[in-house]
Amino acid sequence: MNSSIFQKSHVAVISGGADGVGLAAAKKFASMGMRIGIIDLNGEKISEALKELPESTLPFIVDVGDMQSLEKVKAEIVGRFGRIDVLMNNAGISYPTKSWGNFDNWQSIINTNFWGVVNSIHVFLPQLISQDHASLVVNTGSKQGITTPPGNPAYNASKAAVKVITEALEYQLRELSFEGGSRDKNNRISSHLLIPGFTYTGMVSSPQKPRSAWTPDQVIDFMLERIEQGDFYILCPDNDVTREMDNKRIAWAVGDIIEDRPPLSR
Ligand code: NAI
Repeated sequence: MNSSIFQKSHVAVISGGADGVGLAAAKKFASMGMRIGIIDLNGEKISEALKELPESTLPFIVDVGDMQSLEKVKAEIVGRFGRIDVLMNNAGISYPTKSWGNFDNWQSIINTNFWGVVNSIHVFLPQLISQDHASLVVNTGSKQGITTPPGNPAYNASKAAVKVITEALEYQLRELSFEGGSRDKNNRISSHLLIPGFTYTGMVSSPQKPRSAWTPDQVIDFMLERIEQGDFYILCPDNDVTREMDNKRIAWAVGDIIEDRPPLSR
């Protein structure tokens, strides 16, 4: 484990932190003694989540598509805790349509899954860059952003963008510069793309947990293991044999991308 990042009293900010994968992350980081800020659109879910999180947790009923509200979140977290060590851009929605999807469908998915990540990077990255200690950015993508299965075009497009944004951020931090701060000269910020396997959460409509599904806790344990190993792509393999082809396509896509470029893992 990268002990400089996951230390007691360090601070994690997690969007979509009131349910599913985000809540599992919040609980895991809290169990390590870290202080937590959770951002979620759903106030009722936040109230429920707080029952499982330490009293020090800062809750924010905020839409990640709303940059001004995120600025207030940052000010409050930094004002209270003085630092941000882990930024997990995880809020996501999916409305499978079985068709191309109407404009509202596209707009709401892009607002959360795309703008949520871009807004959050603009708001929080300067804080991470300004700190003189190691920090971590995790963006939650999806296999659907790589394999483009039918029935969810806006979601596929949004998650393909999350993959590219995360790769671009990594290069920008290493090689060039970041608006609002200089480049991360000392490689203190490590960024990662989390691609969960099929995970049984509120986002999934099936009434019964499929045998092959991951639990949110399993995804987070896997994520921490891979961060420890320095992996940039954190790709949870599906253990369902019918998904074998998808897994191969994803491995190929990721392998192909890093082929002629400097490795994205440290
Ligand atoms: P979930 O539905 O259990 O949790 C998502 C949370 O995000 C909810 O609490 C929701 O209220 C919140 N949220 C939605 N829109 C928001 C917004 N605009 N601003 C702030 N919060 C918002 O979903 P789950 O499964 O935990 O998903 C987490 C991430 O993992 C998402 O980005 C999803 O696309 C991704 N993912 C999930 C997979 C799965 O099988 N469940 C597979 C691959 C990726």
